[in-house]
Amino acid sequence: MTAPDLRSGGIAVLDFGSQYTQLIARRVRELGVYAEVFPFDAPLDTIQRHAPKGYILSGGPNSIYEDGAPQLQAEVLNAGAPILGLCYGMQALTYSLGGKVAGAAHREYGRADLTHHGSSLFEGVPDTSTVWMSHGDRIEQPPAGFTPLAVSTNSPYAAMGDESRGLYGVQFHPEVIHTAHGTQILRNYVLGICGCEPKWNTGAFIDDTIERIRQQVGEDGRVLLALSGGVDSSVAAALIQRAIGERLMSVFVNTGMMRLNEPEQVAGVFGTGEMHFTALNASEEFLSALVGVTDPESKRKIIGKTFIDIFTRFASEQAGAGVRFLGQGTIYPDVIESAHASKSSKVIKSHHNVGGLPADLAEKFALVEPLRDLFKDEVRRVGEALGLPPTLIWRQPFPGPGLGIRCPGEITWERLETLRQADAIFIEELEKAGLMRYDSGQLTAQCFVVLLPVKSVGVMGDNRTYEEVAALRAVATDDFMTADWARLDYALLARVSNRIVNEVKGINRVLYDITSKPPATIEWE
Ligand code: XMP
Repeated sequence: MTAPDLRSGGIAVLDFGSQYTQLIARRVRELGVYAEVFPFDAPLDTIQRHAPKGYILSGGPNSIYEDGAPQLQAEVLNAGAPILGLCYGMQALTYSLGGKVAGAAHREYGRADLTHHGSSLFEGVPDTSTVWMSHGDRIEQPPAGFTPLAVSTNSPYAAMGDESRGLYGVQFHPEVIHTAHGTQILRNYVLGICGCEPKWNTGAFIDDTIERIRQQVGEDGRVLLALSGGVDSSVAAALIQRAIGERLMSVFVNTGMMRLNEPEQVAGVFGTGEMHFTALNASEEFLSALVGVTDPESKRKIIGKTFIDIFTRFASEQAGAGVRFLGQGTIYPDVIESAHASKSSKVIKSHHNVGGLPADLAEKFALVEPLRDLFKDEVRRVGEALGLPPTLIWRQPFPGPGLGIRCPGEITWERLETLRQADAIFIEELEKAGLMRYDSGQLTAQCFVVLLPVKSVGVMGDNRTYEEVAALRAVATDDFMTADWARLDYALLARVSNRIVNEVKGINRVLYDITSKPPATIEWE
């Protein structure tokens, strides 16, 4: 029996460049309906690969009359399914149907009061409610057949629709939490107007994915997976293991640049159960490749290359043993970003991801990527449902190059050991204060220590000391693109500082980094 197709009959979100596009898809999924993001100009057969029952057009930074402004494709309009345009999406819909858009005399940014006139889009929404606006242009004349559905102070057509054709536009952003009844409006559209069935949920996803992995890998196929101990590779491993048992072989590469006890923790979770788990201690290989290297980009490149060399060697040996598949913890935002990646953006840092394997290796193996369709919060829910420990699921992000990029200057084993101890103290105190569990919107999204290659004079007992400096870094952020330094409690900072200078040999001074991103980055290298 084939399982019902979880992805069919959902919503296609067309991206016109809004910073909220992924949020729209997540909101739809929270209603239990699969939503997928496509560039606004993706070919129709791509957009329709899962037979969506409706479309949502995102906002965007352009003005619809500008040269090269993204336009709604006629094919989408002609597909006959309902369409909801948000902000710029509404303007694109209006323009493509012959209505008029113009610059508003008063721009609307932030909160606005919306009064609706009663329609299927606003069912269950109070007559007047708060919405979040962010626009310069507005609708001057809706296309033929459309009627106004709501007004705000500055927008006579804050919402409009042609209910007979299932076409709607709203000037505000229902996807952001500041729009008080945004979820209800999206629910009305997705479940009511489009008639989508809410069948996208964690349990169904797990069953479906296990089935797909079994089909892909076959009766006797074996999968090799690089396990970093991060959320994505761990959840991918747990899912593949559920599907094919010991035919999954996971490998953990200890780079020597992990945090205190991290290799033991990973082995504790994955090396004790039924999983076929190999831990490779490659610390020496990494550290000898890094002798004398202080340039941040060189460090990143060397660490990335060494990882790939080690993994390729291991994989080639295993390929001889009949392994034909590589498992990877690629998640949906990675997939979207690589599809939409801007070719002109500058390299600030070369990211090294355990998932980013070289093309020739990827060619030798078929990829098994069970999380390709999931957002991070969905990955965490799957991990919870599979029984992975909360410490692993709610782990803060840890960069691929590890402590190697938190150790400015030359990386030596002694300096790494010093850093590990200081970092462990900071983490321990943050954990006691309940600040290490990763949640978006919280005070600390990421916290760590950086060991500076600077010596300063201190005094201990009656003796002079001359030792290195630890910088504490803690940031609040939702997307890691911008970040603010965390306003940690002074008493907490005092405890951490005191413990580090007393307990860690090699550090006699502690600083707190009070720089936001930009202009700094989160990591120091
Ligand atoms: P920056 O320092 O660029 O970091 O502000 C943003 C986020 O990315 C993480 N980071 C990395 N993650 N491989 C990774 O997997 C890398 O090479 C890498 N460099 C930075 C960083 O920890 C922060 O969460």
